[in-house]
Amino acid sequence: MDVLTSERRLAVDGGTPVRDVRARPWPAWPVGTDEDVAAVAEVIKGGKWTRWGGDRVVALEAQLQEYTGARRAVAVSSGTAALEVALKAVGVRPGDEVIVPAFSFVATATAVLQVGGIPVFADVLPETHNLDPDSAAALVTGRTRAIVPVHIAGLPCDMERILAVARQHDLRVVEDAAQAIGGVWQGRHVGTVGDAGCYSFQASKNLPGGEGGAVVTDDDRLADKAFALMHIGRVPGADFYTHDVLGWNYRLTEFQAALLLSQFRRYPALQQRRQDNAQFLRDALQDLPGVIPAREDPFVSAHGVHGYACRYVAARFAPGRRFPRAAFLRALRAEGIPCGVGYDHPLYKNPLFADAKEAMRDDCPFACGHAAALAVDYSRVHLPNVERLCAEETLWFPQPVFLGSREDMQDIVDALAKVREYAARISD
Ligand SMILES: Cc1ncc(COP(=O)(O)O)c(C=O)c1O
Repeated sequence: MDVLTSERRLAVDGGTPVRDVRARPWPAWPVGTDEDVAAVAEVIKGGKWTRWGGDRVVALEAQLQEYTGARRAVAVSSGTAALEVALKAVGVRPGDEVIVPAFSFVATATAVLQVGGIPVFADVLPETHNLDPDSAAALVTGRTRAIVPVHIAGLPCDMERILAVARQHDLRVVEDAAQAIGGVWQGRHVGTVGDAGCYSFQASKNLPGGEGGAVVTDDDRLADKAFALMHIGRVPGADFYTHDVLGWNYRLTEFQAALLLSQFRRYPALQQRRQDNAQFLRDALQDLPGVIPAREDPFVSAHGVHGYACRYVAARFAPGRRFPRAAFLRALRAEGIPCGVGYDHPLYKNPLFADAKEAMRDDCPFACGHAAALAVDYSRVHLPNVERLCAEETLWFPQPVFLGSREDMQDIVDALAKVREYAARISD
């Protein structure tokens, strides 16, 4: 006989879910307001649609400087473009190796390839999902030019140890802060700690402009170089048809900048809410064995909360039972809780890398003279932490969830407790 009331029976088994998402949907993202519409309409009607003659992109750059504390900001068309511009601006040349973590979005590595460099994948720390400085240090060779720490989900990396590795080997540090605006490391905004930092304003991000990005730096020469690379090779102050360097057209439009400036007005309050809710969840999870929030080391002054990564440890969640992550997620989602796995495979498992010689046979550095320098065979890379995280452990609560109320957060906690209670009853 089933002795469970329908509230305690799992929704996946026909019970009542903790949250009826049709009646109480989770917050949507991105959100556009009448102010956003008016800001973009003003640009459309004003006729100045590009930074050439307009003032919105320049105002956005000033706003980013003020918010992050960076001396200079250069707006670009995407986070991917920001990485390419920054890597080239810091001096990555064809054939150079660049160390990147294997747990990230693919652009972290493809940006290296797009400037002719060779991505070398490092492992991450299981406790944080962020680049393991020791793994990075072990990969340095005479050809290494730069390291790209990625502040995953907005959680600041251990920049002190990463900078120490960089200093020891004279490497540049380009921070991939695409997910991390609002993250603060030892009182400094992430992105402003290394030689250059990169943000993304893609629609899912905490500061969304549809697409968009920025490079920030304290180094004027590097900023001027980034500007020229973004602006089809025009150095600051150059005439329209004077091009001093080889660049891209990676300009942000005035429409996007107007939208971003409008979003920026609401951003601080929304970001505070994300951080408060993430803190509440983190505290609540202390009492729930087996769902372990990403560790916040003392150097973390603020988590950027572009989502919230945890680790699922089945042996602690359901000791002595077989309750793998897939079963856990099925049960949790049926309770009305959105939760993903982050990246379900390490970057080097993508066909682009696993079959690199075929996939990139027409691309530098595989099709040019630098191929000879290629010491890396991606099909042989094996990084244990990232592989275990991707296959078994990572849980990723998406960012919009943290725009909800305390009751919304409590739903997550209640659903987790309910699933755990159930897991303890599974018969072997
Ligand atoms: C870690 C990371 N790097 C780079 C990017 C690329 O940003 P964008 O999508 O704006 O090109 C993203 C965005 O998804 C990202 O998450």
